[in-house]
Amino acid sequence: MTAPKVDPALERWFAENDTRIHDELFEFLRIPSISARSEHNGDTRAAADWLHKKLAAIGFTVETLPTKGHPVVLGEWRKAPAGAPTVLVYGHYDVQPAEPLDLWTTPAFEPTIRDGKLFARGSVDDKGQLWVHVKALEAHLAVRGTLPCNIIVVAEGEEEIGSENLAPFIAEHANRLACDAVVISDSSMFAPGIPSILSSLRGLAYFEINVAGPSGDLHSGMYGGAVVNPGMALAHILSTFHDKRGRIAIKGFYDKVRPFPAAVRKAMRKLPFSDTRFKKEVGVKALGGESGQTTLEKLWTRPTCEVNGLLSGYTGEGAKTVLPGRAMAKVSCRLVPDQDPAVIERLFKAHVKRVTPPGVTVTVEHLHGGRPWRADLDGPVFDAAKRALRAAFGRDPVIVGEGGSIPVVGDFERILKAPVLLVGFGLPGENAHAPDEWISVDNFRRGMRAIATLWDEYKG
Ligand code: BES
Ligand code: MN
Ligand code: MN
Repeated sequence: MTAPKVDPALERWFAENDTRIHDELFEFLRIPSISARSEHNGDTRAAADWLHKKLAAIGFTVETLPTKGHPVVLGEWRKAPAGAPTVLVYGHYDVQPAEPLDLWTTPAFEPTIRDGKLFARGSVDDKGQLWVHVKALEAHLAVRGTLPCNIIVVAEGEEEIGSENLAPFIAEHANRLACDAVVISDSSMFAPGIPSILSSLRGLAYFEINVAGPSGDLHSGMYGGAVVNPGMALAHILSTFHDKRGRIAIKGFYDKVRPFPAAVRKAMRKLPFSDTRFKKEVGVKALGGESGQTTLEKLWTRPTCEVNGLLSGYTGEGAKTVLPGRAMAKVSCRLVPDQDPAVIERLFKAHVKRVTPPGVTVTVEHLHGGRPWRADLDGPVFDAAKRALRAAFGRDPVIVGEGGSIPVVGDFERILKAPVLLVGFGLPGENAHAPDEWISVDNFRRGMRAIATLWDEYKG
């Protein structure tokens, strides 16, 4: 059997159009489509409109469909030969806020290439990876005037705020979105040069805890010691989330955790991972978490409960003796199969209620959630992906897990009953959600070739 190759005609098209492809991506990245911020609603809409036009220009039938939040851009091309499979490609055109702005080497919405890395908010998460797909589709249509598969593109603008409106959208349009496979590029490769197929994502249950004490801030000398301090009460509550071995001490939290298959854990241990390098990369001297688990197991196969933000009292310059009237924490749990965010919400709230000291009032609000996901990795789309990645990257992909969440993946699988292939082109250290987010220009180029080849390999 000959090794699969990228079609030389497609290869030539990618090379000849490289500058324009990059210029267009720069345009996309310049739009600050920050879904979390209402002052950017116009920009988020502009990103949807921009994408709509680009998909229409390459020959797709496009509609921008409203949701309760930011719209879904739905592109369709259904002229493949009879019997060809139908694939749904999903991506998101919204991005995370860019703060802290002063830590960006060049501004977040002024894309810049340095040392083979394209820096901009959204470069890797997810505009750059969505663009990989759009250009792979364009390559086929430009070179051959046709595509080997029917393609549906679903681009949403609310992934970074929890995709609340997307599951209802998929359910409402289930017939129209019916497909043989879902393909998503919104994740990372294990290491440079090592293409990767994702086998799992963690889920999420995100909470805001508000602690209210006295009716307002108090002089900490005149009242401190007698009045319960909301900051201290919150610290106490947070300190009860884990036991001494790093396990989550919320009653019932692990009840639904289904162990990862031994074969998957064995494969994980074979991946070339170094704790020393990992510590260096994140800038810490020691690692924490649950004892008895390797780092990759902690990240990919175990749930967490973590503070994402804290607020209480005086945080300005110098000292101010004050007993704060309130305290707030954002806390999120990453979940693994088969934990259910709704159940975790109930357990979490019961736990906080139980450990709240007298003298303060605590409210817990569930902000958003998403189910964890685990793939079977069997079937034609996975086999095709292995061949396509080999053709573009020159080596077989590895199977990896992921600690992050893409809430809609489980919904696609459940509602459309189609397998989901997650094949990403980010890299460790890519700074997603952080200052100086980047995508490797080489991965971006190979990614386009890999996805274009995927359609040839998948058509059977
Ligand atoms: N693309 C990421 C998820 C991701 C990150 C997958 C790294 C694989 C590797 C996605 O945009 C994201 O940030 N998801 C959020 C989910 C949330 C806002 C509901 C996350 O994981 O925090
Ligand atoms: Mn993403
Ligand atoms: Mn993200």
